[in-house]
Amino acid sequence: MRALAIAQPNIALIKYWGKRDTQKNLPAVGSQSITLDSLWTTMDVEFAAELAADTLQVNGSDSPAMLPRLSRCLDRVAGTDRAPARILSECNFPIAAGLASSASSFAALVVAADAALAQGNDTLTLARSAGAASGSAARSLYAGFVELRTGETDIDLEQLAAPADWPLEVIVAVTHAGAKPVSSGDAMIRSANTSPFYARWVDEQDADLNVGREAIEARDFARLAEVAEHNCLKMHSVMWTSRPSIVYWNHVTLVCMQTVRELRDKGHAVFFTIDAGPQVKAVCLPGDADAVARALADVDGVVEVMRTGLGDGARVVTAT
Ligand code: DP6
Repeated sequence: MRALAIAQPNIALIKYWGKRDTQKNLPAVGSQSITLDSLWTTMDVEFAAELAADTLQVNGSDSPAMLPRLSRCLDRVAGTDRAPARILSECNFPIAAGLASSASSFAALVVAADAALAQGNDTLTLARSAGAASGSAARSLYAGFVELRTGETDIDLEQLAAPADWPLEVIVAVTHAGAKPVSSGDAMIRSANTSPFYARWVDEQDADLNVGREAIEARDFARLAEVAEHNCLKMHSVMWTSRPSIVYWNHVTLVCMQTVRELRDKGHAVFFTIDAGPQVKAVCLPGDADAVARALADVDGVVEVMRTGLGDGARVVTAT
């Protein structure tokens, strides 16, 4: 009745922004991502009939705010007549700051719950359960390069390439470690309701996904860089033109973006992407990672630089 699972966050290269169905949390658009390696979240889930209700500790402290979402996710995996769960989570990077902690949390949670109950669900079923809790979490069930497609009733996922097929590196420049002002879920609903650019964003997504897929298949870094930066800036344009506007960046974010473009002009294989937060993720070829990490660490206002390769999907560590 107890299992420990680990999952890494993923970073979208072609972004998910918008919901087709808010009840089912079905994305309005497909997305493509890379699963990371050295950032992680663990979830230790124990179902125990003697508990009065679910409990949650994150990094050793009670975390009641996150608990309702996790409880609903457990209901989806284990059924609403399940025993209460004791959830112990550890995370080695800032939470709710635009570093995809919800992706690794829900991915690890569904895998741990499934193993604790010895249900033996397949990866797609678990990815759908994680995605119903947080759309991007579905992608963290898979290793390396991942595509999520959205249909009328549910999502489908596919691994496009394994980490060893194209071992890109990611340098994360943290420009502010606090929690974000608006959750991505709330922000994307606001965008759909108010941004004049939202419909165009949805219309163009399949074309960007096609280019992303071709670039990954051909290991064409320059092509991936162009479409990923374009797609990222388009998503942020939708956010900026929402009412009230959603601006996650700070001035250091912009300096980091400029630094990445200057490195590229000097011949380094690197591009940036930014999610619902002010952190800049610089994706690069392994031979360029040292120069990119040094340049971003030198930017005034960068509080931390993290470095990671590509990693595995969510998996069980121990089950008893
Ligand atoms: C900007 O997966 O956090 O990171 O489904 O509402 O939980 P919910 O949203 P979430 O949104 C992620 C948005 C993004 C882009 C991406 O990861 O594709």
